[in-house]
Amino acid sequence: MKTIIKNVDNLLTNNDSYTQAVDLLTKGEVVAFPTETVYGLGAIATNEEAVAKIFEAKGRPQDNPLIVHIGSKEEMMAFTQDIPKLAEVCMDAFWPGPLTLILPLRPNTLAKNVTAGLQTVGVRMPEHKVALELLKQLKQPVAAPSANKSGKPSPTKAVHVHHDLEGKIPLILDGGTTGIGLESTVIEFVNDLPTILRPGGVTKEMLEKVIGQVGEAQPTDEKEAPRAPGMKYAHYAPDSPVYLIEASLVKLKEAVEKIHNEQKKVAIIASESFRHINVDYFFSLGKEDQLSDAAHLLYQALRDCDETDADIILVPVLSKAGVGTAIMNRLEKAADGKWFYS
Ligand code: TXA
Ligand code: MG
Repeated sequence: MKTIIKNVDNLLTNNDSYTQAVDLLTKGEVVAFPTETVYGLGAIATNEEAVAKIFEAKGRPQDNPLIVHIGSKEEMMAFTQDIPKLAEVCMDAFWPGPLTLILPLRPNTLAKNVTAGLQTVGVRMPEHKVALELLKQLKQPVAAPSANKSGKPSPTKAVHVHHDLEGKIPLILDGGTTGIGLESTVIEFVNDLPTILRPGGVTKEMLEKVIGQVGEAQPTDEKEAPRAPGMKYAHYAPDSPVYLIEASLVKLKEAVEKIHNEQKKVAIIASESFRHINVDYFFSLGKEDQLSDAAHLLYQALRDCDETDADIILVPVLSKAGVGTAIMNRLEKAADGKWFYS
C-alpha cells in the first residue's frame, strides 16, 4: 500500500482531501489526521473490521481500548448512556478540547474491539479545525488512538506518522505540527470521586475549578489492574535507554563525564539552560519554566534521539506543576522508572 500525505493547510486543495478521507473511512479504511494534542489514526467506530486495521497498523495490544472522537454531542448519545452530571459539566467546560471522558457504554452500539470488551467508552471532541471538519463531513464517531507505532512517542507531525506507518495506511491528512504535543487528559466517572487516569493538557487544577475534588490514579500500584489499560505498557520510548536525572548542572556534567569515560555517546533532552554542557547531542525543550513549550517539543526530541548514535539519553526532571504532571508522566514511562545516579 502506498501512503499518501495530503496537506490540508492550503484551502484550495482542502475539500478534495476531506472527500478522499471520508470516502476511505466509509469504505472501512483507516486515515491519520491531526488533533490539537497529537495525530490520531482513525476508523469508523461501528466498523469492527476497520477498527481491527488500526490495531494491525500500529501493532497495538488488543486489550488496549481506543478513544472515540465526535464532532457533536448528539453523536455521543447513540453509544453512551446514564451520563454522570459531573461529566456533563466537564463537556460544557472543556469540549472541544484535550479531555477524554470515560463514560458508560450503551451495549451493542460500537464495534467490540473499540472498547476491548469494557462496559465503558472513552470519548472526546477534539479542538482542531481539520479533525472537526473531517468529523463534520463524516457525521459518524471515529475511534482513534495516537497514530504512532505502538511503544513509540505519539506523532506531533505528519512526517512522524509517515515514518512509523508508511505502507500500512492509505492516507495522512497533514495539518502541520500539533499544538499541545501530549495526549489528552483521561478522566473516569465510575466511582464517586472523578479520577484522572492519564494526565494531559487539561490539568487537575483546571478540572477541580469546575467539578471540585478530583483523584489521580496511581500508575505505580501494580496490585490493581490498571484502569486505563494503555498505561501499563512501556511507552513513548526511543531506541536507546532514557534515564531521568536531578535537574542540576553539576550532576549533569558529572553524568556526561562518566558516560564519556565508558566511551559512550550521550544525548540530553532539556531546557535551554542546560545547552552549554559539553554533550554529543542536545535537544531543547525550550525556555526553562515554559512547560507548555516543553510539552510541545518533547515527542519531537524523543524521536530526534533515534536519528543519532547516542547510547544513552539523559533528561533532567521538570516541575510537576500544571502540565508538568503530564510531561513527567510521559518521561517516567519513557525512562521506565530508571534514574541516573552519578
Ligand atoms: O489526545 C489523545 O487522546 C489522542 C488523540 C488522537 O485524540 N489519542 C490517544 O489515544 O492518545 P491512545 O489510544 O493512544 O490512548 C488512549 C488511552 C489509553 O491509555 C487507553 O487505555 C485509555 O485511553 N482508554 C481508552 N478507553 C478507555 C476506557 N474505556 N477505560 C479506561 N481507559 C480507556
Ligand atoms: Mg497512544
